[in-house]
Amino acid sequence: MQHDKVLIVDFGSQYTQLIARRVRELNVYSEIHPFNKLPEDIDSYKAIILSGSPMSVRSDNAFHIDLSLIRGKKPLLGVCYGAQYLAHFHGGVVAPSSTREYGRANLGFVKEDEDFLEGINAGSLVWMSHSDTIKELPTGGVRLASTVDVENAAYRIEGEQTYAIQFHPEVYHSTDGKQLLENFLIHIAELKADWTPGAFVEETIAALQEKVGDDRVVLGLSGGVDSSVAAMLLHKAIGKNLFCIFVNNGLLRKDEYSQVLKQYEGMGLNVKGVDATDRFMDALAGLDDPELKRKAIGRVFIEVFDDEAKQIKDVTWLAQGTIYPDVIESVSATGGPSATIKSHHNVGGLPDFMKLKIVEPLRAIFKDEVRRVGASMGMAQELLGRHPFPGPGLAIRILGDITREKVAILQEVDAVFIGNLKKWGLYDKVWQAGAILLPVNSVGVMGDERTYEKCVALRAVESTDGMTADWVNLPYEFLQATSNEIINKVKGVNRVVYDISSKPPATIEWE
Ligand code: XMP
Repeated sequence: MQHDKVLIVDFGSQYTQLIARRVRELNVYSEIHPFNKLPEDIDSYKAIILSGSPMSVRSDNAFHIDLSLIRGKKPLLGVCYGAQYLAHFHGGVVAPSSTREYGRANLGFVKEDEDFLEGINAGSLVWMSHSDTIKELPTGGVRLASTVDVENAAYRIEGEQTYAIQFHPEVYHSTDGKQLLENFLIHIAELKADWTPGAFVEETIAALQEKVGDDRVVLGLSGGVDSSVAAMLLHKAIGKNLFCIFVNNGLLRKDEYSQVLKQYEGMGLNVKGVDATDRFMDALAGLDDPELKRKAIGRVFIEVFDDEAKQIKDVTWLAQGTIYPDVIESVSATGGPSATIKSHHNVGGLPDFMKLKIVEPLRAIFKDEVRRVGASMGMAQELLGRHPFPGPGLAIRILGDITREKVAILQEVDAVFIGNLKKWGLYDKVWQAGAILLPVNSVGVMGDERTYEKCVALRAVESTDGMTADWVNLPYEFLQATSNEIINKVKGVNRVVYDISSKPPATIEWE
């Protein structure tokens, strides 16, 4: 791969991945590396960006980086902590802010005719999120812009291609953030904007052909975007040597198994559908603990997948839909490990005993890039725009133990909800949606009859990566129509509620 690269040094900010994505939106390739584990070939990067951090540069434990190979030698942009770091340890002064500097602010220019601020409007909205402030600029610092509360909102260092900004250009609220990154990367650092979906497809196909040669590859399709795009890339690279397996665990959405299987076949994929509903249902019988349910499903999936893979002669590779956020090494603000909230399992996880080599065509790209890559290969928008769906499927949306009857009820409820989101033009505005079957019955009245039936919850969230999420303010008319339809159509349900919890403190799934 011969692209100009940007190195994004991560100091643990929640926005670091956003920086990388904004850079990629400019068609420039970027990589994230933790501040304490920088790549050895720093010279291969054409520009460096220092991220924000939950840490203060004034703390005894402040995160440090050796800038000797970077400062003055390569174009460098410090963002938030990065800007404070460049000030505090190079002759400037950083102190606690007297006012809390969170949220929107308007940028006012101090210096005109600066390449860095080219095309940015005076008064442009920027997003602030910091509790320290730069009181004095570092040696050679030249103030470029201020806001009402932040005097040194942007500066550069005389005689170097070093720039620093207190605000976050990567956040959508910073209206000219993308322009600013473009000014720095394309106009000042002169990077080539050649990281396009088309180039990625071409290079990946060539790389896959070289890596895999005439070997056989097996891949677990899930119906989701990542495994489908990974399969399509491999299909283009090695054709019939790719063997796809699509397992029905009996916990998919209504009619999903047959519809998606048909879609895959229409795409020309060499795919085998395996209906293993009985094996999954047997393994789940009597289990009501969420983690035990997840583990049982993960185990059976591997067994089924292994049985199928063994039937393909001479297979040497397992392809996975791993994407870039799965491989970025994270920086912990406290230095400690993060707690396991739920044991997620992804379809296609490698069972140790299979002894296959791994190939991961999407390892370098983000989810939004996966969609663009899929689109550039002509894949259907219907498939690429699908909401994420958890590997354990409806099992973690049925609270308590699983029975076929409960699955059937939830499939009907979910089908009404998702169908209506599509009908009302809301599906693409929601990041993920689904229904949850609650383990309570409640009293209702239908006609003159008392009922004592199930209650379902509807959940629709906005998110960028599932790490944080907020509930979607769906129109009352939509909720009213959907609730009516569910209660009238789905036998056994007499009550519908809407989940209005954000993540955190709740999670997206109920189990
Ligand atoms: P939570 O519930 O942790 O979910 O807020 C965040 C995102 O992850 C999905 N999810 C899973 N995906 N296996 C998966 O492949 C799992 O076990 C699993 N549990 C949750 C969830 O649907 C949401 O998109």
